[in-house]
Amino acid sequence: MTKQLFNFPSLETLSIAAADRLVSLANESIKARGVFRIALAGGSTPRHLYEIISSGTYRTQTDWSAWAVYFGDERIVPLTDNRSNYAMAEESLLTHVPISKGNIHPAPVSLGGGRSVAEEYECIIRDTTRSQSQVPQFDLILLGLGSDGHTASLFPGKPALQETQRLVVESTPGALPPPVDRVTFTLPLLNAARQIFFLATGRDKADAFRAAYEGVPLGDVEQVPAHLVHPDDGDVAWFVTKELAAEV
Ligand code: 6PG
Repeated sequence: MTKQLFNFPSLETLSIAAADRLVSLANESIKARGVFRIALAGGSTPRHLYEIISSGTYRTQTDWSAWAVYFGDERIVPLTDNRSNYAMAEESLLTHVPISKGNIHPAPVSLGGGRSVAEEYECIIRDTTRSQSQVPQFDLILLGLGSDGHTASLFPGKPALQETQRLVVESTPGALPPPVDRVTFTLPLLNAARQIFFLATGRDKADAFRAAYEGVPLGDVEQVPAHLVHPDDGDVAWFVTKELAAEV
């Protein structure tokens, strides 16, 4: 694994740099394997990145028909709810680009219970990536960071973080809002990726970033979820704003 740190003066410059790398990676993946499998992140930080790649010249720089889109975590609310990660991605990205509906794979939240949603989402991921016996390798997984060190919906001290077999599991809410049940990619699936991008901004995440990047405890939390993301055969790139990078 290689780990790179890129730091920027603002969310705008961070998002443009991430957009450049994302589109290059998409095109390399399509050239090499005919498909670009990406798992999107939720939260608010990636919204601007999604807006950038789906507008202006970026929109014309990739073959959207070769994209296959998934979600690294999802809140169990209707896909039209404003707390839904899918809803945010749909509004800022998916409605603006010609990705066919059949290549967009949201978590099946209408099943209701976290366990059923997680099990069915794992089946969808295995079927659509044709990975029945091995762990599928995403070309890119986008992730965020919480001030408690969580990433995707892997929260400190919760069972989802310990999962070693399943690819997607249910996850009860952490300390940060919104307080809704979720499903999340597990560490085995995250750590099979070819490339991870973490996007993080905001002074309130400075301690979490240091803990995630350097592997030091965060208060009394020894196992910082974001620090446990280190793909076996993949790379990690951190895109952060300057108030975070000053911490390492
Ligand atoms: C979610 C997430 C979560 C998010 C971080 C950062 O569903 O809440 O996917 O892991 O990425 O909490 O969120 P912000 O970008 O809003 O700070």
